[in-house]
Formats: sequence, structure tokens, C-alpha cells
Amino acid sequence: MRFRLVPIALAASASLVIAQAAVAQVQEPIQPIIPPQQVNLGQVELGKKLFFDPRLSKSGFISCNSCHNLSMGGTDNIKTSIGDKWQQGPVNAPTVLNSSLNLAQFWDGRAADLKAQAGGPIANPGEMAFSHTLAIGILESIPAYVREFKQVFGKDKIDIDQVTLAIAEFEKTLVTPNSRFDQWLLGRKDAISADERAGYELFKTSGCVACHNGPAVGGNSYQKMGIVQPYKASSPAEGRSAVTGKEIDRFSFKVPTLRNVEMTYPYFHDGAADTLTQAVDVMGRLQLGKTFTKDENAKIVAFLKTLTGDQPSFMLPILPPSSDATPRPNPFK
Ligand code: HEC
Ligand code: HEC
Repeated sequence: MRFRLVPIALAASASLVIAQAAVAQVQEPIQPIIPPQQVNLGQVELGKKLFFDPRLSKSGFISCNSCHNLSMGGTDNIKTSIGDKWQQGPVNAPTVLNSSLNLAQFWDGRAADLKAQAGGPIANPGEMAFSHTLAIGILESIPAYVREFKQVFGKDKIDIDQVTLAIAEFEKTLVTPNSRFDQWLLGRKDAISADERAGYELFKTSGCVACHNGPAVGGNSYQKMGIVQPYKASSPAEGRSAVTGKEIDRFSFKVPTLRNVEMTYPYFHDGAADTLTQAVDVMGRLQLGKTFTKDENAKIVAFLKTLTGDQPSFMLPILPPSSDATPRPNPFK
């Protein structure tokens, strides 16, 4: 009875399908990724352009895709990101893939959802270093954008709300279904090898699933980094306490998704672990007080690699050219 009520309450959203999948897979702590059932296609196409458009940055050189490269698992594959004027950021860029499944955005969860998140980097002096007003000015000077925003939102003026809404809608499509592990969950018993299966058993029996579970294999709780042994971070980030102001939340981070984790190196909020072998070793010792043998570690890593799903694929968006009236970028000031 309870299970029936949940889907009715959520009938308007894709959560319906996810809830049903959860019922079907109730015996496993990880559920398959379900692509979103309803997206606004006009917003998605516009958001895709904005995601790739470096003119939303002061330098005219940095787009969302610079740090969340969709050819590389939605990350930049460097320790911490490089922003405006080659500034080194404080934390590792998490993937944008499957970020719609997160309970909140950023390592410390300071943005409630993708729309709230998307305005941040444009105005962040260490990232795109622009302002919302200047970014809107650029878009308004480009006739093809003016036409497309009007078509999608039906308003005469472009505003930052439309920009962040379109980007968030595009990001909803960046999910990665159909990994070998999901095929296995859905019943294809030969989709993963015996070693990969053994790695999954170790992942469950060792306790990794206490924090890494659900369709994203993470992303749904904040947990302390360094439970059994402290973690010596190379970043000043203090974690969730920066948002809640509570001492008990110090060094709690949003548990990262392990979907596509083979592609999203380096690992941890400070990007200190270069390889999955290192990350699994650290997690075993610091979170669970377990030292895995070489063989056990290799099996868990093999399992983690089965979580790579179909990467988003689409035509590279062609951006409308600037007009004579478009303010020119200033990369060196
Ligand atoms: C200079 C590099 C850089 C640029 C440019 C950038 N980001 Fe990020 N992004 C990051 C970093 C670093 C974080 C993590 C920051 C934190 O948690 O404090 C992040 C976090 C995120 C997250 C949260 C993911 C999660 O799991 O918490 C999303 C979503 C995201 N960015 C989307 C975008 C979008 C959309 C744009 C363009 C408007 C953008 N980013 C531009 C580096 C960048
Ligand atoms: C108590 C909760 C908890 C447990 C148990 C746990 N993890 Fe984690 N895991 C986290 C948190 C929190 C982070 C992020 C830590 C940070 O970045 O400082 C993380 C990060 C990771 C990462 C890096 C992902 C990335 O993109 O940076 C991997 C890989 C990982 N865990 C695998 C495992 C494995 C394998 C196990 C079991 C041996 C495990 N975890 C057990 C909470 C947990």
C-alpha cells in the first residue's frame, strides 16, 4: 500500500519511474539510471548552447564545458580547476553527469538544485569572473540568441532566470543509463564478469553501500570524510559546516556519485587521489577501518568500472556569432 501511494504523490515527475525501478530492484542497494521522462526540448537546445558558450565568461574563453568537459566524463581531469586568469580553484570539479540525481549541488551542498547552481560560476571571480548583467548584455547583443530566448520563453527580455533554467534543463539530459552494471541489475547475468561481480559483493559486504547507494551510487547524503582515521586534505575546504555553521558538519561532504567514476579522475574534493586504486584504498582504511588486499582492491576497482554508462551524445552546438554591437572579451585584464 505504501509503495502505491508514493508514485501517485510524485506522478508529475520522473521520480515516478525511479520509484518504480526502486520497487523492482528492491533487493539491491543500487538502482539503474532512468533517463528523464519529460524535458522541455526548446530549453534543452538553448541550454546546450549556453553550456558551451565561452562568451558567458569575462575572458570570452571559459565555458561550463571548459571545466565539465562532456568528452571527458563531465570533468576537467585535473586536481583542481583552472579559472579566470589561470587561477587555481580550491576544489576538484565534480562531474555534471547525473548531477540531476544529487540531493543538492556542490561538495558542501550550498546550491539547492541545478538552476540555483548554474548562476554561480558565471559570476564567480575564480571561475568565469563575469557578472549576470554583463552576461545578459552579451546575449542581448546577439540577434539569434534574442530570437531563440523569445521563442523558448515567450518574453521580450532575456534574464538570468531564463539562462539558468535553460542550462539546468540541458543538464537534466546528461544522464548515463545502460552501464554494464545496470544491464546486470536488469537481468542480463553475463553483463559483468565474475571478478566484477566479486567486487560488487565486496562493495556491499565491506559497507561502501552505506554511503554510496541509490541510482547515482552516491549523491544522496552528506558524510564525514575520515571516519575511522582523519583525512589530511590539501584543500582548505571545510565541507558542509560552511553552509550549516555547525561544528558537527565540519569535513562532511556530499558523497560523490560513483557513476562513470573511471572517467572522472582525480578523486576526492581536493583531487588528491590520482587513481581508483588509491581512492578505494583510502576509502577502505579511512571510512571503514579496512585494509583491502591487492586482489580485493582490484576487484572493487573492476566493479566500479562497470558503472560507466552511455555518455550523452549530440551534435556539437554551433553558437550564433557575435554582432557588431557585442562587447568584446577581455582575456588579459
Ligand atoms: C573554472 C572551472 C569551472 C567552470 C567554468 C564551471 N564549473 Fe561547475 N564546478 C566547478 C567546480 C570546481 C565545482 C565544485 C565547487 C564546489 O563544490 O565548491 C563545480 C560544481 C558544479 C556543479 C555541481 C556538481 C555536484 O555534484 O555538486 C554543477 C552542476 C556545475 N558545476 C555546473 C556548471 C555549469 C552549468 C557551469 C557554466 C555556467 C559551470 N559549472 C562552470 C568548476 C567549474
Ligand atoms: C561513511 C560514508 C562512506 C563510506 C562507507 C564510503 N565512502 Fe566513498 N566517499 C564518501 C565521501 C564523503 C567521499 C568524498 C570525500 C572527499 O572528497 O573528501 C567519498 C569518495 C569516494 C570516491 C571518490 C569519488 C570522486 O569522484 O571523488 C570513491 C572512488 C569512493 N568513495 C569509493 C568508495 C568505496 C570503494 C568504499 C568502500 C570501500 C567507500 N567509498 C566507502 C563517503 C563514503
